[in-house]
Amino acid sequence: MTKYTVYHGTFVHSASIKELDIVSNGIIVVDNETGLIAHVERDVKDLETFLNSSSFEDATVQKVEKEQFLIPGFVDTHAHAPQYMFAGSGMDLQLLEWLETYVFPCESSFKDADHAKQAYEKVIRRFLRNGTTTCSWFATIHLNACQVLVDIIEQLGQRAYVGKVNMDQNSPDFYIEETDSSLNDTRAFIQYVQGKKNELLTPVVTPRFAITCSSKLMHGLSALAKEYQVPIQTHLCENHNEIEFTCSLFKESKDYTSIYDDHGLLTEKAYMAHCVHMKDEEIDMLAARRTGVSHCANSNFSLHSGVCDVRRFLEKNVKVGLGTDVAGGFSPSMLDAIRSTFFASKTQKIIHRDMLEKGEDSYTPLSPAELLYLATVGGAQVLGLEEKIGSFEKGKAFDALWVDLLGGSIDLMGGENELQKVEKFLFNGSDQNLKHVYVQGRRVSSRD
Ligand code: GUN
Ligand code: FE
Repeated sequence: MTKYTVYHGTFVHSASIKELDIVSNGIIVVDNETGLIAHVERDVKDLETFLNSSSFEDATVQKVEKEQFLIPGFVDTHAHAPQYMFAGSGMDLQLLEWLETYVFPCESSFKDADHAKQAYEKVIRRFLRNGTTTCSWFATIHLNACQVLVDIIEQLGQRAYVGKVNMDQNSPDFYIEETDSSLNDTRAFIQYVQGKKNELLTPVVTPRFAITCSSKLMHGLSALAKEYQVPIQTHLCENHNEIEFTCSLFKESKDYTSIYDDHGLLTEKAYMAHCVHMKDEEIDMLAARRTGVSHCANSNFSLHSGVCDVRRFLEKNVKVGLGTDVAGGFSPSMLDAIRSTFFASKTQKIIHRDMLEKGEDSYTPLSPAELLYLATVGGAQVLGLEEKIGSFEKGKAFDALWVDLLGGSIDLMGGENELQKVEKFLFNGSDQNLKHVYVQGRRVSSRD
């Protein structure tokens, strides 16, 4: 193995939330030992001249051909690994009925570690194939099956945040834990993941949501997150019935967001899925705590939870990433998450316009540049990984998708400019357009 690999061709990433940076004749040099980017260069007309005048002379060269480009790997900030079992089922139900009918029976079957192993291998392969190089996973309440999931992720090479789910109340008798064993198993799980000393793997404290967690459990989980310096993920303000039931259970808290805050769960390392129905003061609280949001647009439509207005969060400087929320969302693909986010944003535009009788409609829906940013840099920020991933910069990890516009679900008709080619990928591309997928320099999936 040579010390370096040089990727030469077009690469595309976010220069800022508003600005796509499309670099033709670019060079990304990857250190093969560390998987980190050692050098980035723009406008290299002649590769030989560049190599001869650099310290990368002996590098392996990978030519990114015409109609191909590299983009940063996708970051899925919220997905339920066991729920991939029934993706697409129950889409006629709303959240609380769907949980009882599909989710809890399915997740309880992961008590069987062999079943977990079989299922999780398929899940992780599918997500990698779709270009999800980093994923934040909810598993189940079972310590064993959670360890199995982490082992598989480690083998297959995804960068992942993994949570053992906690539930000690308002759950069916076949899928519930005692408070103390829930806390003990969470501690054991954190130690198991941290004991691997694999920088790609992070344990996450994962109270399912306030409905299924007692006050004692949430306080205990907050203490664990602090003790081990780990992130926290949960669901917040997803659906009207859920919000009403939650607030009836925790009457001493001012609102749903305050319930988590009152239990010490809104930290800088925490991120909340959905946040569809939030009062301004709740968003302000997330901003003040530096807590992030996972926007799960497919799920919000599919379980008809509501249409989240992402602009409100961005305007208040709340970190936002995208989540598939498999299987509240039926698709494991972040390209789908991008498109669902696009439709949610357009729906907001339509709602804003129709609410105005006259006067100027100043609502700006998300642009393609913003969509790609949220799926990469935004997700990295939510997970606290913005120094490590999300764009191609020296010192960051080479988490990348080698996009090939030919041979898949896209037609190039002739005359498309560079931006239009990227847009064709975002709106009409599929896993068939991903020639290779890399996590920290390692190739973890290939189309052929
Ligand atoms: N709220 C609590 N659990 C879940 C879940 O599994 N999926 C979704 N979408 N929302 C939840
Ligand atoms: Fe979810």
